[in-house]
Amino acid sequence: MLSRRELLATTGSTLAAAACSVPPRSTTSVTAAALSTWPKVREQFLLSREYLHFSQFFLVSHPKTVRDAIERYRRMLDDNPFLTMERTPEMKLRVRGAAAEYLGGKPEEVVLVDSTTQGLALIYQGLRLRPDHEILTTIHDHYVTHEAIRLTTERSGASSRRIALYDAPHTATRDEMVDRLRRAIKPATRIVGVTWVHSSTGVKVPIRELANVVADANRGRADADRVLLVVDGVHGFGNQEPTVAELGCDFFAAGCHKWIFAPRGTGIAWARPSNWALLRPTIPSWSSSELHHAWEDGRSPSGPADATWIQPAGFKAYEHQWAMPEAFAFHRELGRGRVEARIRDLNSQCKEGLAKIPGVTVHTPRDPSLSAGIVCFDVAGLLPKDVVKKLLEKKVVASESPYKLSHVRLAPSLVNDEAEVDMALRAVRAIA
Ligand SMILES: Cc1ncc(COP(=O)(O)O)c(C=O)c1O
Repeated sequence: MLSRRELLATTGSTLAAAACSVPPRSTTSVTAAALSTWPKVREQFLLSREYLHFSQFFLVSHPKTVRDAIERYRRMLDDNPFLTMERTPEMKLRVRGAAAEYLGGKPEEVVLVDSTTQGLALIYQGLRLRPDHEILTTIHDHYVTHEAIRLTTERSGASSRRIALYDAPHTATRDEMVDRLRRAIKPATRIVGVTWVHSSTGVKVPIRELANVVADANRGRADADRVLLVVDGVHGFGNQEPTVAELGCDFFAAGCHKWIFAPRGTGIAWARPSNWALLRPTIPSWSSSELHHAWEDGRSPSGPADATWIQPAGFKAYEHQWAMPEAFAFHRELGRGRVEARIRDLNSQCKEGLAKIPGVTVHTPRDPSLSAGIVCFDVAGLLPKDVVKKLLEKKVVASESPYKLSHVRLAPSLVNDEAEVDMALRAVRAIA
């Protein structure tokens, strides 16, 4: 059992009240000059030169400044774990501040999690649902969204329903997706759960427009019956220019160990304070002085809940969590617009090139406003897993989408360039 002093030092809860006023310490270890060209950006990664890495979206390779920060914190912790924890109570606040700055929100709106999966679980499990409530989701979402929904409906007795936002991904349109959601929301619908970029098809969903549909549905509803929009944002977080706060959703979860380049095993969940207040914590928290005082006094905590109530406790791989600001600094120095444009251009080159190869069917929309960094396709007569295998023989690291209807995925990202996309296209042509 932790002593009170240990607990407060561990969580930084002595500073919790100051969370809103503590600005993130700016991290300047990566400079814009070091990232001024794409070859320089590539040099930040230790990714083997033997392969063409088109699956960087799956699990990050840490860029140099993130690696260095992890090493710095690891040394501090190895040198003296107890005193390092005692002397650095501000670290969690600094990390939440850096995440908030990137996502366009406030530090007190951010919960640090270890993955998209954990963030979604905290949100879906935390919702106070009744048997007459319905969760409306789509057939396109990842297993973890569907499982989080299944688990929460099993416990609450609420129901769930899945709709298709489009029939064929390559013909998906913004209007169709918006219209299908509008028609699907019923009086019982309390939650709409969607994914920003589908890792099944590469389709980017117009979250802002879907949020408008939800806002329309909420007109005339009492506060307690408001429909809430929950977004799995992992494949848009780190490659799209709009900030999370601009998307208009109520809850957002994303691992930071994919497009953000933060350490493996890190992620965020985000909501406005009025939405965190709707949740019940799932995992004990060390970050709330109210929860701790209630425990000490032998009483029930007095709400409303806030992000600190939802923040999962337990010791972490702090060298990874504390290095997260370096990744947000990496994006800040790169520039959001520049990142989005680069990923759009490389993905367009990849889609256009694939579409010209006889026997290849591209499923991801060609329209960059309906896609992001993942290109899904098939090669006639070959199973996706065999295409992936054959590409690997040609040193191209592709992946197969982990869905019932599976496709081959190439995900051109900041670690690739035009020549590499051409080489990958030549490899596909040789296989097809
Ligand atoms: C759409 C989507 N959501 C969630 C996940 C799981 O992410 P995490 O490993 O951060 O839990 C994945 C897997 O890569 C995914 O493709």
